[in-house]
Amino acid sequence: MSMSSSLIPSKSKNPRGSVAPFRRHEAGTQPDDFYPPYRATTLRAPSQPLIFLPHTLSEVTGPVFGHSDIHANEQDLTIQHAGEPLGQRIIVRGRVVDGDGRSVSNSLIEVWQANAAGRYAHAKDDHAAPLDPNFTGTGRTLTDKDGFYSFVTIKPGAYPWRNHPNAWRPAHIHFSLFGPAFATRLVTQMYFPGDPLIPFDPIMNGIRDEAVRCRLISSFDWRTTIPEQALGFTFDIVLRGRLETPMENRP
Ligand SMILES: [Fe+2]
Repeated sequence: MSMSSSLIPSKSKNPRGSVAPFRRHEAGTQPDDFYPPYRATTLRAPSQPLIFLPHTLSEVTGPVFGHSDIHANEQDLTIQHAGEPLGQRIIVRGRVVDGDGRSVSNSLIEVWQANAAGRYAHAKDDHAAPLDPNFTGTGRTLTDKDGFYSFVTIKPGAYPWRNHPNAWRPAHIHFSLFGPAFATRLVTQMYFPGDPLIPFDPIMNGIRDEAVRCRLISSFDWRTTIPEQALGFTFDIVLRGRLETPMENRP
């Protein structure tokens, strides 16, 4: 990103030199590390007190992702194969802002998702739903000078995930955002308004506050639709501060 100022180290110095840690997340805005209904958290949540590890210079300065790394058509997941993918074509559009509401430009956004039948094009997905030969489900783009991004894709299907009996994930799109270095990667998921599975999802419910959970649900937006072609949804991402978006990783 021409990095969010709220993620840029403050003036304080750590013992190793001039590199200071990124700004921490706001209390109450992120999922619990340990939330037993989401079974995986019982295996990966820290069992010991956390140890502070200062960022090193290489962690906060590189590698940098530039325009030359990305092709213009990578933001359209519907044109990656000879034919068109099955499913409801949608546009997902949004803006990335920092903790002070300023736009974050040149941020690398990567997405990955299941196809319309709820199946990932991945070797480890054994869900008994059909693969779509015309849909891989991955895309990349950079935010523009005003922090906006957009993807053309198809609406993903729900899929079972064996967290508990008859567990189904709501339809969702995974998002990864990169700053100027791997240390600034943020990962989250976007959901769709009105999905009846959302209230039952342990990953969503690991975020205690309902208002905070709702930040992960996109909005249907007539202005983003393309008549006779695609429905439109908006999903803004706030990197830090009182209104920050819940993330799966917290650097
Ligand atoms: Fe998923």
